[in-house]
Amino acid sequence: MTILLSANQTLANNLTALQASGLDRLDAQLLLLHVLGKSDAQRGWLLAHDTDLLPAGCAEALSTLAHRRLAGEPLAYLTGSKSFYGLNLQVNADVLVPRSDTETLVDWALEVLSKMSRHQLKPAPPPCPAGTAADTSPAPEAKQVDVLDLGTGSGAIALAIKATRPDLQVWATDLSAAALAVAQANAQHLQLDVQFSQGAWFAALPAPAHGGTQQFAVIVSNPPYIADQDEHLDALNFEPPQALTSGIDGLDDLCQITANAKPHLKPGGWLLLEHGYNQAEAVRELLTSQGFDQVQSRYDLAGIERCSGGQKPLRQCHSPTHCLHDPPHPMNPTIDIDERLTNLEIKASFTEDLLDKLDEIIIRQQDQIDRLTREVLRLSQPAPNQDNAPPRNPRDELPPHY
Ligand SMILES: C[S@@+](CC[C@H](N)C(=O)[O-])C[C@H]1O[C@@H](n2cnc3c(N)ncnc32)[C@H](O)[C@@H]1O
Repeated sequence: MTILLSANQTLANNLTALQASGLDRLDAQLLLLHVLGKSDAQRGWLLAHDTDLLPAGCAEALSTLAHRRLAGEPLAYLTGSKSFYGLNLQVNADVLVPRSDTETLVDWALEVLSKMSRHQLKPAPPPCPAGTAADTSPAPEAKQVDVLDLGTGSGAIALAIKATRPDLQVWATDLSAAALAVAQANAQHLQLDVQFSQGAWFAALPAPAHGGTQQFAVIVSNPPYIADQDEHLDALNFEPPQALTSGIDGLDDLCQITANAKPHLKPGGWLLLEHGYNQAEAVRELLTSQGFDQVQSRYDLAGIERCSGGQKPLRQCHSPTHCLHDPPHPMNPTIDIDERLTNLEIKASFTEDLLDKLDEIIIRQQDQIDRLTREVLRLSQPAPNQDNAPPRNPRDELPPHY
């Protein structure tokens, strides 16, 4: 199809020609802004300049982009950027275009992190050499790492969390070196300090210098979750297949992550996963079967159960089915001390909540008593002489402290 764009025509006329070719209005405006070197946020500028002529040289570029869009290529690949959680991310065909549904996962992670105590976020102490007394102070090289984003793609989730909570240490991984290059470029351009490493899920994490396993307060992931033969894949054929499909039912990667997450979580830490519109129940089952507590799901803006997650139990569970990866650590008494401190802190916060509730009950009871006292006082007053009595002020009937 020929799209009749021309440098002799106004911006408004060229927009009309783009829409006549089948592009929707928003796509046409965003492509026009892109060739004019303006940002997505400048749609108002287009209205104010609709009688300007399209600059020479832009018509051909615009026509090429419009044809690619009409062939189904995502707008973000054409403009090279996508807004996510208020961040302007650079994207290309090596990464999934970040979806607004995924902002639900970021919101949930930030909510969970905001409820965590400082103790839960601090670095785990290094293991003590056998036979020495437990030392709970972190080793000088031990770095606090709070959040892990598995399969980071453009870096969307990790960067959104870091941008909102710069105090947290964020780690992000991906199997694809090309995707990691995009994520790293985004981190650099946004000046956000996120640590990146390449590899398959948890295998991407380097072993800590002090031994043991790197443990996080929150692990988030939006892994591939579409079934290999899913009919929706036709509409996604510009995006990298390794970002999309995951076995016969789409659950292979979700299964791998839930099965291996617990050793990488601190006691009380959360695993939060995005999944397909019809996978919430299956993912809750995966989490429950791996011994996670508080298993639950969250809805996206379209009202679809979009993420599910669970909490690693505070106490170590020694059930062989639940905790294959979570054995007790006989040589490391500090793990127990760490866990006990976390438990105590969480119990203290429950106790505080209980005390608040008790306070509320006491205040309500006191109000009730006051009301009854006033009623008794009123009833015990002699009946006023109807003929000469002055009009009564209701406050006269209140007990002195009113
Ligand atoms: C659905 S995309 C999510 C990208 C990004 N987190 C987002 O929400 O926009 C899944 C990502 O997981 C990565 N991935 C796929 N298989 C992986 C594996 N075995 N280990 C680590 N990452 C993997 C893909 O390269 C892709 O970047």
